[in-house]
Amino acid sequence: MNDRNGPVVGIVPAAGRGVRLGEPLPKAFVELEGRTMLARSVEAMLASGVVDRVVIVVPPESAGTTATRLVGESFAARVQVVAGGTERADSVRAGLAAAPGARFVLVHDAARALTPAGLFVRVVDALRAGCDAVIPVLPVADTIKSVDDVGIVTGTPDRSRLRAVQTPQGFDVDLLSRANRDAADATDDAGLVERLGEQVTTVAGDPLAFKITTPLDLVLARAVLASGVPAEKEM
Ligand code: C5P
Repeated sequence: MNDRNGPVVGIVPAAGRGVRLGEPLPKAFVELEGRTMLARSVEAMLASGVVDRVVIVVPPESAGTTATRLVGESFAARVQVVAGGTERADSVRAGLAAAPGARFVLVHDAARALTPAGLFVRVVDALRAGCDAVIPVLPVADTIKSVDDVGIVTGTPDRSRLRAVQTPQGFDVDLLSRANRDAADATDDAGLVERLGEQVTTVAGDPLAFKITTPLDLVLARAVLASGVPAEKEM
């Protein structure tokens, strides 16, 4: 039976050691106004009302960490913490293994800490409506060039056909499991689904779901929080 009303499980791969932000901690554990990006992202997913539970994938040495240490007390009962693997795709696989019974999964970056509830709702609505792979996208403001190994321009894709991809990326659980099975690595789960020749559908992204990656992004995120914008949208 292809029941599209089944449970939705969030997977947050946070097992990388990346310290690109220039902070002393992996970026998922960097604090924004007193709460980590990881806590904000996971709590936003659960507060959206469309995600039943969340699996947080952490570095193997942190696998003993309890959910209560990572997210607010009222959310911890719906959060499971599991050990990740060498590559991001291994960590997503570990998350999938901890999601038995899921009908759909939403893979979400911890670094998109200000993602509003409406974006989770849009992605899940599209899954429930019949799509098996759904990604939120935004038009690109910059012209994008392709370049060769030494930086010489090789092409200018038509900007009107380009989209910047955000998360959460939503999938039929069996489709993502199949796509992820032999993946060595992937920065984008939907790319693995594309490789299978399966259709990926886009929904409108949200500027607030930007990925907090550089020190400048952190300044922007703190300014957004200070302005009260996401607080108005929080549930
Ligand atoms: O920003 P970037 O594309 O490098 O993000 C990769 C994400 O995948 C990070 O959230 C990182 O913690 C996660 N990751 C993981 N397991 C790995 C490597 C990366 O969960 N082995």
